[in-house]
Amino acid sequence: MNILVLGSGGREHALAWAIKQNPKCDRLIVAPGNAGIATLAECASLDILDGAAVVAFVEQNTIDFVVIGPEAPLAAGVADALRAAGVLCFGPSAEAARLEASKGFTKEICDACGAPTAAWARFDAAEPARAYLREKGAPIVVKADGLAAGKGVIVAMTEAEAIAAIDDMFGGQFGAAGAEVVIEEFMAGEEASFFVLCDGENVLPIGTAQDHKRVGDGDTGPNTGGMGAYSPAPVLTDALMEQALDRIVRPTVAEMARRGTPYQGVLYAGLMIDGGQARLVEYNVRFGDPECQVLMLRLGAQALDLLLACAEGRLADARVNWADDHALTVVLATKGYPGDYAKGSAIRGLDALTEDTAHMVFHAGTAARDGQIVGNGGRVLNVTARGATLAEARDRAYGMVDAIDWPEGFCRRDIGWRAL
Ligand code: AMP
Ligand code: GLY
Repeated sequence: MNILVLGSGGREHALAWAIKQNPKCDRLIVAPGNAGIATLAECASLDILDGAAVVAFVEQNTIDFVVIGPEAPLAAGVADALRAAGVLCFGPSAEAARLEASKGFTKEICDACGAPTAAWARFDAAEPARAYLREKGAPIVVKADGLAAGKGVIVAMTEAEAIAAIDDMFGGQFGAAGAEVVIEEFMAGEEASFFVLCDGENVLPIGTAQDHKRVGDGDTGPNTGGMGAYSPAPVLTDALMEQALDRIVRPTVAEMARRGTPYQGVLYAGLMIDGGQARLVEYNVRFGDPECQVLMLRLGAQALDLLLACAEGRLADARVNWADDHALTVVLATKGYPGDYAKGSAIRGLDALTEDTAHMVFHAGTAARDGQIVGNGGRVLNVTARGATLAEARDRAYGMVDAIDWPEGFCRRDIGWRAL
């Protein structure tokens, strides 16, 4: 079959890499793709936020299946446009994508289905928000309701910080995304990510992971999109996974179906684990980046069969063929990230690396220039390895990191510390 993947990050490189290994895949196009993706798939320039343009591209290229990577095209209704045109597609409708695109919507769904989450309130003006905050006190969490590129959440340890966050959000810092603000109880505990496929009705767990959001070793410095991840996350025991399925994920999926907006795609539940209980921090309606990279390295070619079963409503009969393995990814970023950074520095040593089903360098922000790979973004490479133990996966990943010659880049040296 001919398959189109939408997106251009390390997540989409990992999806394309897994899909390409499956013999069902004849032709693979990624739009817009990146320099690493170009080594295994055709890259096409296409406005992936424009549903009509994506449908036209699908028709011109006789695409059989579309996999949507990032949240923006989902929130923009690209999956709806494809389904309306009769195209098989992996990813939720715009209405179902509100589970990520609106924090307040997710909280309403949690309340409607009884899923445990932080106590919350929603505001559309600063003064009542400040009054609520003074009543509750710090620590407290202030969130812009809409999509804010991962920057719309302030975990405020003091009341002054929380007030400043409220004023910034209502002052327009996040544009329309901050027109409404959710204020919620601070939850202590350990965070972990739980990934399930949903076909509107059935739910299939496909793995757990932990991310490293802070830029510096020891979880210091500002937040990023994620500096590394590993899978599985030992904190999510089988018992906790069952609990999260029973109390959070299945009730959410049932509530979405009850409302006539069934959820189809991957549902990424960010959980807070404390005292043997899992509570929902947030949902994302896409794979995590870089969590997808470790999940895909572990799943390999069967990922395509699972994505197809999901899109075709066949998850009740689908099974994951688990290997008892571990995967870990280290993000190489351009110095300065998550602040300002330069583009265009040469990355050497990639050609000499051996890549196989246990060792992969997924590209995020890269470009090819004069036969050379150069940095073209903040997060640039995802150096990913698999092993029988997490320590083995880590040693393999850092072995590859150390063989890459890129003076303008940096990485965290402690990915996996929590589990090791
Ligand atoms: P979100 O964008 O909702 O994932 O929030 C970003 C990060 O903020 C989460 O991954 C948590 O680390 C933190 N966070 C969000 N909500 C809470 C909460 N209610 N209590 C504690 N930490 C939170
Ligand atoms: N790595 C976190 C995310 O993709 O949201």
